Amino acid sequence: MKVIIINGPNLNILGKREPETYGNTAFEDYFYQLEKDFPTVTLEYFQSNHEGEIVDKLHETGFQYDGIILNAAAYTHTSIAIADAVRAISTPVVEVHISNVFQRESFRHHSFLSPVVKGVITGFGMESYKLALYSFLNA
Ligand code: DQA
Repeated sequence: MKVIIINGPNLNILGKREPETYGNTAFEDYFYQLEKDFPTVTLEYFQSNHEGEIVDKLHETGFQYDGIILNAAAYTHTSIAIADAVRAISTPVVEVHISNVFQRESFRHHSFLSPVVKGVITGFGMESYKLALYSFLNA
C-alpha cells in the first residue's frame, strides 16, 4: 500500500503557525510518528506553497499510488485547477483539514475539492491525517 500526503500553502510552518488553531507539532515530527505507527504502509510526504506544484504532484502520483491524503489548505476554497486535477486522476483522494473549517469563517465552508474526493475529514487536529490513512486501510 502506497499513500502520499500532499500539504498545501503555509503547512510547512505547522508548529509555529497559529498554534491555537493548528497545534504545536511540526508536520515532519507527526509524519515520523505516522510512519512508525503504520510500518506496512509506504508513506510519502510532499508540501508546496504553489498551486501548480500541487497539480503536478497529483498528476505524478494519481495513477500509481493507492491513496492520496490532500490538505490543500487555502487552495481548498479557491482552486478549480486542483479540483480538476483530483477529478482527472484515478487514485482516490481524501480531503483533510486539521481545524474544523465549519467552525471558522464562512469562506472556509466552501470547498472546490469536496465534490470530487472520496471523503472529507475535518477538525481532528493532526489526527485527521491518521483517520484518512485508516480509511484507505479499511477500504
Ligand atoms: C486548513 C483549513 C484552511 O481553511 C486553511 O486555509 C489552512 C489549513 C486546515 O488544515 O485546517 O491553511 O486546511
